[in-house]
Amino acid sequence: MKAAVYKKYGPPEVVKLEEVEKPTPRSNEVLVKVYAATVNRTDCGFRSAEYFVSRFFSGLFKPKYRILGNEFAGIIEAIGKDVKLLNAGDKVFGYNDAKFGAHAEYLTIAETDAITTIPDGVTFEQAAPITEGAHYALCDIRAAMIKSGNNVMIYGASGAIGSAAVQLVKYFGATVTAVCNTQNVEVVRSLGADQVIDYLTQDFTKTDQKFDFIFDAVGKSSFRQCKPLLRNKGIYISTELGKNSENIFLALFTPFLGRKKVLFPLPTIKKEDVVFLKELVESGRYKPLVDRSYPLDKIVDAYKFVETRQKVGNVVITLS
Ligand SMILES: NC(=O)c1ccc[n+]([C@@H]2O[C@H](COP(=O)([O-])OP(=O)(O)OC[C@H]3O[C@@H](n4cnc5c(N)ncnc54)[C@H](OP(=O)(O)O)[C@@H]3O)[C@@H](O)[C@H]2O)c1
Repeated sequence: MKAAVYKKYGPPEVVKLEEVEKPTPRSNEVLVKVYAATVNRTDCGFRSAEYFVSRFFSGLFKPKYRILGNEFAGIIEAIGKDVKLLNAGDKVFGYNDAKFGAHAEYLTIAETDAITTIPDGVTFEQAAPITEGAHYALCDIRAAMIKSGNNVMIYGASGAIGSAAVQLVKYFGATVTAVCNTQNVEVVRSLGADQVIDYLTQDFTKTDQKFDFIFDAVGKSSFRQCKPLLRNKGIYISTELGKNSENIFLALFTPFLGRKKVLFPLPTIKKEDVVFLKELVESGRYKPLVDRSYPLDKIVDAYKFVETRQKVGNVVITLS
């Protein structure tokens, strides 16, 4: 089968299209013919090994799994002998950042992992980007225990995580103030944000509102900057470690030092989360934003674009 393979850590060009052996499903796995995947910041992080810590999961000196791609959508072509929940011919989507593998014509995944059927009327290109940004956003929203009536600021609302966060926070019944640049104001408003601050024309720290939760989805702010905007018992979460990895230390100490605190939840994803996201898509409460698509043989260009850090939502990879 055709696959985008990387054998060493480095820039987008380390990824090359190659013919590799088609995988065989184990007894508890399904074989998925992939029709769409994404290139996202998780793929970029594992490919570049920019943060050394990722090598503890992906291989200290060289990649353990040579095909990236954590989000996928496709059709089940074969099932292992013990598979009960899914059938050959099912249209499915899901997420796998343990062994990746979606930048290829076929992948295998355990039926109990983060995979479920695609809602009716949703294309492979729309289904593939449902999970990555949304599951990070969901972990953080759950950690902050957001509920109806809360006031939430989402900084960096136009990225994959931020655009999912706006929709999920609205689903949980909170009011959203989103921060993005001028050209993304309308699209972020269309996701359901109650107010939008254009960070090019307005200093978001000068708002007179107070928030129960400030979620920095792009890791460009700091707790120090945001603390005055938090209500008593307010929570700050960033998707990045921050200057000198301060968000880790702040998450360890702020719960004991005052009433406003930093959290740094470790992201997880289970089958139930994918099913939950599917139900939101079905009920029209969540729709992943797609910036643009590239065919698999242009995947290096997709990586280069994602690494401009300017994508609006998600970048999809199509396979035939
Ligand atoms: N903790 C984890 O496990 C984990 C996993 C994946 C990703 N991440 C991190 O999460 C962050 C977000 O990932 P993502 O995929 O959602 O990002 P993304 O889609 O690449 O974010 C791009 C968007 O962010 C906006 N942006 C950039 N700088 C901004 C700023 N200063 N203020 C407001 N908006 C800004 C960009 O718009 P502009 O045109 O305004 O620049 C663009 O629309 C990244 O930093 C990534 O490294 C963490």
